[in-house]
Amino acid sequence: MRIVAENLTFTYNKKSKFAVDALKDVSLTIEEGSFFGIIGHTGSGKSTFIQHLNGIIPLTSGKLMVGDINLADKKKIVKKKYKQLRSKVGMVFQYPEYQLFAETVFLDVAFGYKNFYPNSTEEEVKMAVFKALDMLGLPKDCINKSPLDLSGGQKRRVAIAGVLVSKPEVLVLDEPVAGLDPVGKNELMKILHDLHRSGVVKTVIIVSHDMDEVCENCSDVAVFSEGKIVFAGKPSEVFKRSKEMNELRLGVPVTGFLLDELKAVGVEIDSDFTREDFVQNIAKYYKDNK
Ligand SMILES: Nc1ncnc2c1ncn2[C@@H]1O[C@H](COP(=O)(O)OP(=O)(O)O)[C@@H](O)[C@H]1O
Ligand SMILES: [Mg+2]
Repeated sequence: MRIVAENLTFTYNKKSKFAVDALKDVSLTIEEGSFFGIIGHTGSGKSTFIQHLNGIIPLTSGKLMVGDINLADKKKIVKKKYKQLRSKVGMVFQYPEYQLFAETVFLDVAFGYKNFYPNSTEEEVKMAVFKALDMLGLPKDCINKSPLDLSGGQKRRVAIAGVLVSKPEVLVLDEPVAGLDPVGKNELMKILHDLHRSGVVKTVIIVSHDMDEVCENCSDVAVFSEGKIVFAGKPSEVFKRSKEMNELRLGVPVTGFLLDELKAVGVEIDSDFTREDFVQNIAKYYKDNK
């Protein structure tokens, strides 16, 4: 399902002196099948935007189509529609492990499933939970453990399994690798890629403020600043604007910095900024100019 936002505007505490304009006229299309990165500084509106996508924040101004669900059409957004929307768009909040609550890993993930499939049999629940844990690379023997006894990275994966278990088409993750160590970050990004590549989830949307992470992993990006989208496109197009990205104090991937420095000494190399492409183009330049 395709997501189309048009002129999305949102103010917290509207009509009070604490009003905050969190989104201002945000228009963005997220195509089905993309691995979409939402980037921007803290407070730029990223979380407010993504929380509109499954109705956690109700639409107050502008248009929003999520697949064929029109969130602007208030008359049709009855409770049942929200439930349908939430079964299609799974939302993983920032630090989701803080929301684990059940006695065991099994019960926590099963809760996520039963919420959407209340009439399922115990056998179906079991199958779904095992499958979700397996997809997150969690060993079977963790099911009877308390989530509190797992490592930080494992807790996060259990929390993601609790969302994935309901089989959403779109998986939205707010800063999914924040706070993990470098190995844990790579492992989790690889898992997300595998889920995307194998079609378990059609579209993945991640919030990040790490330019390298976005460049290496995303097919498309949108850059938020002060509640607005300043650039959107392929990472290779967005990161070409190193001057503007530096002015926004977001910077570019490390490959972008290096390409700028090479340019300053007269070596101009074209690259899409991924490490692999960067290395190949440097090697080609070296061979061609030997
Ligand atoms: N629940 C809230 N109540 C009031 N203001 C909020 C709330 N959540 C976020 N904001 C404000 O809205 C703006 C956008 O925040 P947010 O969407 O959380 O940005 P980001 O995810 O990019 O850090 C910020 O100015 C933030 O302080
Ligand atoms: Mg946020």
